[in-house]
Amino acid sequence: MSDAGLPRRTQVAIIGAGPSGLLLGQLLARAGVDAVIIERQSPDYVLGRIRAGVLEQGTVELLEHAGVATRLHAEGLVHDGVELAFDGRRHRIDFADLIGRHVTVYGQTEVTRDLMNARAALGAPTVYEASEVSLHDLDTDSPRVGWRDAGGRHELACDWVAGCDGYHGVSRASIPASVLRTYERVYPFGWLGVLCDTPPVSPELIYANHPRGFALCSMRSTTRSRYYVQCGLDQKVEDWSDERFFDELRARLDERAAAALVTGPSIEKSIAPLRSFVAEPMRHGRLLLAGDAAHIVPPTGAKGLNLAASDVRYLSRALVAHYRGEGSAGLDGYSARCLARVWKAVRFSWWFTTLMHRFPDTGDFGQKIQEAELGYLVGSRAAATALAENYVGLPFDD
Ligand code: FAD
Ligand code: PHB
Repeated sequence: MSDAGLPRRTQVAIIGAGPSGLLLGQLLARAGVDAVIIERQSPDYVLGRIRAGVLEQGTVELLEHAGVATRLHAEGLVHDGVELAFDGRRHRIDFADLIGRHVTVYGQTEVTRDLMNARAALGAPTVYEASEVSLHDLDTDSPRVGWRDAGGRHELACDWVAGCDGYHGVSRASIPASVLRTYERVYPFGWLGVLCDTPPVSPELIYANHPRGFALCSMRSTTRSRYYVQCGLDQKVEDWSDERFFDELRARLDERAAAALVTGPSIEKSIAPLRSFVAEPMRHGRLLLAGDAAHIVPPTGAKGLNLAASDVRYLSRALVAHYRGEGSAGLDGYSARCLARVWKAVRFSWWFTTLMHRFPDTGDFGQKIQEAELGYLVGSRAAATALAENYVGLPFDD
């Protein structure tokens, strides 16, 4: 053991204690594979980030498999459809009728809290507030992770490094530029989001296409709402009082929703830029990337967290098979397998973003084309089924 009370060596060093890292750690621990998680922030900081809210059925099944779904099932809200609002009216996409599946509304914060509690109960090691995290010897069989914390400088030897440290992490940056290929689209707008303790305007999510810009009515529970409006990239949170935010949201909703909207003081308000980004490959030597470390999608399709879970599903199975002596095919094929599913979600998120937002350069013609496509979507069972299939999550390849 080192002076920090940690082992000097582990099987898998996991960088990042977001949903990817914590879920991977939990799945590995339950299968008897040792891992240490190294996270840059404090637990409270990680739990304070308000992010995703919609879980695909496959994500819920993975959380069940990880043994962390009790509260999710007690408190999560099962949604059988979503509503699309445009041209002054709302139209329902009925997942249950179209494909017999549903999504579950349960916040990323709660998923993270459940995973942190489960990890603490197992007594599995996590280092928080680690600075200067660095990865070494990734192209050998014995990579190392270094970091600094209040106790000084530390080093951990391992068999594998799981890069679960998000878009700004050190893992992807440790892959040589000559090996990494990246693909990116940056959108000319962001989302201004507000969280407040008021009942949601409607029992299901409303995605609104409006000439003033996109709006989304979501929720975290029957008493907590999450609302977003599309905003310019030059906007500052300080310029948006709660009153201004709710006036803008109301202006983008149909009359019935606008009249039903209950407002209250915001408990969180933030602006997120929108981008599509994919880094290939997702494996370099002994480093395996998962989640936002490898790819980012605009939040319109609610895919970011679900894609992170889907990478972790493939990665945990591959590592467990390896340690059970069942071969390394899963690890060898990890990148290609993830990327096949990732690109489908990138496509869907890009398409749904393009359909729902006001773009600066497409004018009234663009608005009319969007409304025509939306009309087609809600009028054609085939088109609505394609949306439903992608929204609830495409199947895994096993
Ligand atoms: P993260 O959640 O980013 O976790 C990475 C962890 O690694 C963090 O805890 C970070 O502190 C840590 N870390 C970073 N660098 C280092 C380092 N050098 N060393 C050690 N640790 C490090 N998705 C949706 O589906 N719907 C949404 O509404 C939505 N909203 C979002 C809003 C914002 C502002 C952002 C940034 C993302 C949003 N997403 C949304 C995406 C979704 O939250 C992510 O896809 C999800 O968090 C991915 O989980 P992850 O564990 O891969 O990465
Ligand atoms: C959310 O509740 O934060 C949320 C829901 C659906 C999305 C994006 C964000 O598409």
